[in-house]
Amino acid sequence: MTVTANQARAESRDGRSFSFTAGADDGVAPGDMVVITAPGGDRLLGQLVDVVEPAADDPLTGFGVVIGALDETGGLQRGHRPAFRGAGMDLAGPSELGGLHGTSAGTMTIGTWRTGDVGAEASLRAGGFNRHTFLCGQSGSGKTYALGVVLERLLLQTDVRMAIFDPNADFVHLGSTVPGVADEDARRIADRGVRVLRSDSTRTEGDEPLRMRFRTMTRQAQAATLQLDPVRDQEEYNAFIGYLMQIGPSTEMGALLAGLRSGTPGQQSLARRMENLGMLEWQVWARELPSAADVVTSGNGVTVMDLGGFGDPVEPVAVCLEVVDELWAQRDRRLPTLLVIDEAHNLCGTDPASPVAQRLLDRLVQVAAEGRKYGLWLLLSSQRPSKIHPQILSQCDNLMLMRMNSPDDIAELGQAFGFVPRAMLRASNGFVQGEALLAGGFAPVPMLVQVRERLTRQGGSDVAVPLLDA
Ligand SMILES: Nc1ncnc2c1ncn2[C@@H]1O[C@H](COP(=O)(O)OP(=O)(O)OP(=O)(O)O)[C@@H](O)[C@H]1O
Ligand SMILES: [Mg+2]
Repeated sequence: MTVTANQARAESRDGRSFSFTAGADDGVAPGDMVVITAPGGDRLLGQLVDVVEPAADDPLTGFGVVIGALDETGGLQRGHRPAFRGAGMDLAGPSELGGLHGTSAGTMTIGTWRTGDVGAEASLRAGGFNRHTFLCGQSGSGKTYALGVVLERLLLQTDVRMAIFDPNADFVHLGSTVPGVADEDARRIADRGVRVLRSDSTRTEGDEPLRMRFRTMTRQAQAATLQLDPVRDQEEYNAFIGYLMQIGPSTEMGALLAGLRSGTPGQQSLARRMENLGMLEWQVWARELPSAADVVTSGNGVTVMDLGGFGDPVEPVAVCLEVVDELWAQRDRRLPTLLVIDEAHNLCGTDPASPVAQRLLDRLVQVAAEGRKYGLWLLLSSQRPSKIHPQILSQCDNLMLMRMNSPDDIAELGQAFGFVPRAMLRASNGFVQGEALLAGGFAPVPMLVQVRERLTRQGGSDVAVPLLDA
């Protein structure tokens, strides 16, 4: 460490924020944790939020915030302190950082915290996932890998129900650990009984079919699936309502359709619509099987839904709609549930590609706005903030930011996550793979972290260029 109490000085007029001066060679950076020793002997824990680039030979200057006071036992009393001048400032070590994390069972070690020249444990509060979380970073920055680390920790340390919407089969191995994982962790993850639902074309041993049931969808979701509008398509909509009455648990689609074809003009149009949309060929219908909504809502389990492998792109979106609608319909049960959506721009984007996608987006906007009080929390991952619907992004209180080169995207994140020091956001353009800024209710303070190794295998992986033999 190069900064010493002799060199670095801090002062504060209000005991909440402080300015500092340090030697020009001192390698302090935004996000670094420091210990300030006030002239009266008080020891304060602070965090640097901005460092000004000095002109040649000038001292380093910058600003920080006071986190709280350290006691002799290493404990931390959060809150501001009396004003101070001429205080010494030193980089904080692991023992001083320990007080931030506390010792509760809900502490999830997610990787290594890089502050100053120290590599301390970076832990999140598991209880801090009781709000919406946005994981952002450019392609290849390590979002899906890091999301897996977070999910593994949640599996190990919480009983939260999880519905994981997985567009690239990245989480289909989430239920089984790789060799070398501690027995206790391997057992706990196996005991959680992660269920993996997949299409007929991607399913392998141990997976279950990913299905939906038209009969139990909401009326609006059914109409969206049929692309029917009650005003524009009056006759057909009317035939659709009558048609619904005829669907029972064992109704055979072919027979029903034959009935519609020989019915009123409205019924005939409805039959043609269903044929034209190719709905009879959809493999996603549950028939006698459980639907994904049944599986997700059957308890507090963890369900991975691999959304790939369907013939019609509307099929997986319709499954997601049925699941989210059902979770919403059961919201009064207040069963803590995390809805995890990787590549979230597909489902939470600004430009839905079909009426089903629009309906799903509307529901997710509602979950973003009101879900928190029912224990329905979103964990969304995407490459750019602008790809996520603004009414969803603005409801996210936790940020996990990985490498991000685009200044426009960083500026947008600054708007959406005003509590994160701008200089720390800007530092993300220098992150290497697996590095992340964690900030919000789940982090004790904004932290720069290298995420830890996975305990389970990431499914989909990048495709390698085939090389010729030398
Ligand atoms: N911390 C890490 N340690 C080891 N390997 C990693 C780490 N982070 C990512 N990888 C690997 O790098 C590759 C790309 O990472 P990942 O799939 O997580 O990127 P991504 O940000 O999700 O990209 P995209 O936006 O394209 O989905 C993967 O093969 C992944 O296993
Ligand atoms: Mg990814």
